[in-house]
Amino acid sequence: MASSTLSPSAHSQLCSGKSGMFCPSQAFLVKPTRTQMVRREKGMKLTCQATSIPADRVPDMGKRQLMNLLLLGAISLPSGFMLVPYATFFVPPGGGGAGGGTVAKDAVGNDIIAAEWLENHGPGDRTLSQGLKGDPTYLVVEKDRTLASYGINAVCTHLGCVVPFNQAENKFICPCHGSQYNDQGRVVRGPAPLSLALAHANVEDGGKVVFTPWTETDFRTGDAPWWA
Ligand code: FES
Repeated sequence: MASSTLSPSAHSQLCSGKSGMFCPSQAFLVKPTRTQMVRREKGMKLTCQATSIPADRVPDMGKRQLMNLLLLGAISLPSGFMLVPYATFFVPPGGGGAGGGTVAKDAVGNDIIAAEWLENHGPGDRTLSQGLKGDPTYLVVEKDRTLASYGINAVCTHLGCVVPFNQAENKFICPCHGSQYNDQGRVVRGPAPLSLALAHANVEDGGKVVFTPWTETDFRTGDAPWWA
């Protein structure tokens, strides 16, 4: 029993009472003897008093600090791993192009290499890629199997639906309200008020396709670019 392991001095220091039992509020709980339990059942009054813990029983401060450090590390490491991707979410996509442009990416997020793209996309093809600011942007393959120097932003100028290319009609036809654009993205039927936006599509050293903002006159209409 625990009571038999304490020295007499510690015993007297920790407890006082007519029954000689330890106070439960103390850190050291000692199971009472059978005699003591009988006395308690008879209504004997017990009293407790605060006691000081011997110096040799105070936890070592160095160990406390070590445990605090371990706890801090256990919390901060997983938190850091979660916060980094969360923070990068707010960094706008871009970069990769030598001139500050955005490297075009395919449907699975790989950089588009012009030569490989042209092997798999024939004349007249318009296939979506990821363009400036992550906007869906069509890469255009000309009839001579070269890549056009412009990309067509697929966001409808009416209410923002992504406009698919209808190969049979050779037009972009918006599924939301029926706006139509010709094969270069010029609006030919409303309710869309404006043509689809353009971006430059250039092939960089290394063969990657890079989009850069189109700030010049819109070659389809002769007007200033509304999106710039
Ligand atoms: S969003 Fe395209 S026509 Fe309305």
